[in-house]
Amino acid sequence: MNTVAVIGGTGVYDPSWLHDPKEKTIETPYGQARITQGHLKTAASQSVVFLNRHGLGHSVPPHRVNYRANVWALKALGVRRAVATAAVGSLNLAMGPGSMVLVDQFLDFTKARPATFFDGSDGQVVHTDMTEPYCQASRQKLQMAGELADVSLIMGGVYVTTEGPRFETAAEIRAYRLLGGDVVGMTAVPEVVLARELGICYTTIAMVTNFGAGISPTLLTHEEVVEVMNANVDRLREVLLRALPQLAEDFSCGCPPPRQAPSN
Ligand code: HPA
Repeated sequence: MNTVAVIGGTGVYDPSWLHDPKEKTIETPYGQARITQGHLKTAASQSVVFLNRHGLGHSVPPHRVNYRANVWALKALGVRRAVATAAVGSLNLAMGPGSMVLVDQFLDFTKARPATFFDGSDGQVVHTDMTEPYCQASRQKLQMAGELADVSLIMGGVYVTTEGPRFETAAEIRAYRLLGGDVVGMTAVPEVVLARELGICYTTIAMVTNFGAGISPTLLTHEEVVEVMNANVDRLREVLLRALPQLAEDFSCGCPPPRQAPSN
């Protein structure tokens, strides 16, 4: 069975579902990544790497996450597939707070983040296909796990990634809606891009915590986001626990094969 990873976003910090969890610091060419390694309590032979995206006590804002170190570390630990969680706002009235969306596309409005391993410093020019950034086959496994856990997951959605850390203006939310966005958050890019660059099959369960600015009747706060995450995190964990052993199996998906990582 392959090693799988969970990248925990806002509200998903606790690796207590792992047996014998060991915290480790992984050195990468991009700096250190802190991860927890262990086995599933519910399937003892299944090795899992857990990465808390925002660090201890949610101390790292989205624009300062060391995405390259994190994804590099997963690759170095032999991770084949990764499931990320993300708290998001919704632009789509059919995806209200508490909805879980298996996003299938992104729109990128980030501005100032290192977003590639192939930055040209080694003289290599690499353009990575991003037609289907998220692993479609993994998404189906997650949906089936959701059915077994009696948790409904919405198949497909466009994740608008903003730079943050501020929330959006009402006009931005209107514009993102017109562009076809369904949910909005601050972390999909570059995480999914970097995973694809290293050939890690990557999926995201986006948890809707609020309607976007101007749709929501109230002003947005991080506390509201965390509160709604906390209210739903058990459902999310149920899906993950069922899905991870499935995702660890060998199955073919449409994702391109891994490319040779850059040589730095
Ligand atoms: N906007 C951006 N990121 C978010 C939101 C939002 O409304 N909710 C949770 N993360």
